Amino acid sequence: MNINWYPGHMKKTRESIQKSLTMVDIVFELIDARIPASSQNPVIDSIVGEKPRVIILNKSDLANSHGNKIWQEYFLGKNISSVCLDALSGKGIDRLLEISYDLTDEKRKAYEKRGVISRPTRAMILGIPNVGKSTLINSLSGRKGAKTGNKPGVTKSNQWIKTKGNLELLDTPGILWPKFEDPDVGLNLAFTGAIKDEILDIETLALRLVERLTNYFPNLLNNRYNIEIEGKSYLEIMEEIGRRRGCIIKGGEIDYTKVSNIVLDEFRKGVIGNITLEFPKE
Ligand code: G4P
Repeated sequence: MNINWYPGHMKKTRESIQKSLTMVDIVFELIDARIPASSQNPVIDSIVGEKPRVIILNKSDLANSHGNKIWQEYFLGKNISSVCLDALSGKGIDRLLEISYDLTDEKRKAYEKRGVISRPTRAMILGIPNVGKSTLINSLSGRKGAKTGNKPGVTKSNQWIKTKGNLELLDTPGILWPKFEDPDVGLNLAFTGAIKDEILDIETLALRLVERLTNYFPNLLNNRYNIEIEGKSYLEIMEEIGRRRGCIIKGGEIDYTKVSNIVLDEFRKGVIGNITLEFPKE
């Protein structure tokens, strides 16, 4: 992770986000549909408080449709609205706008009673790094290429971006810290690229991914690399993929770095398949 989150940063971030929250009607909380629990900030509920919130299962194009459904049901059970989104293509944005309109209905009606008609709904985006915040802002606003820096917290400009659906979006999202303590969470974040290959060396990380895929999605691995998995160790499977992909160095040795990069890259791009790596525990 390129940010070192210290308790001081967390406190500042929290304060800064809570200040911004007073200016908005609704929060769009982005999480990664492949790892919804791991990509959620550990204290998000207390940060958002009573403010209307939509959980956006972003990158749902890379996750499994069954997984997407299960997670949506899970959040519904907790009384939180959620929507599956692909911020890159914009698929799901209309539904997001609908939900956001419904959740802010009461406030809109209160304004209307006071004669304020067509007041835009004000929203802000929250999420850990790399979950797709900038992409969603760009997609909603039709602007291109602006990347929000992954600095903790929010900047102070407080510009509003007008989007369709009579929405005004705070131009700088709240960048939250991920969960740190649980090593499984760390692995999930690393598999998806949310933390950049820094918790483990790339070869070990890829081997752990092969282990996960072998245990839970053997057919996908088999189909993608045309390899026999039965009875092989994870390392042997990795070597087999390496041979298939020509990752060989002098003397016929496997180029582990090259094959590791291939496996991680293909997983992250969704080429191995639509994969949800975790399900609700309850
Ligand atoms: P952030 O502001 O929350 O940090 O995330 P950002 O929008 O920069 O998105 C991180 C990466 O995720 C980008 O890939 C972006 O294209 C990709 N992305 C965002 N939303 C979606 C989605 O709904 N579906 C898919 N498939 N990809 C999405 P990148 O430019 O390749 O960056 P990186 O992964 O090399 O950092």
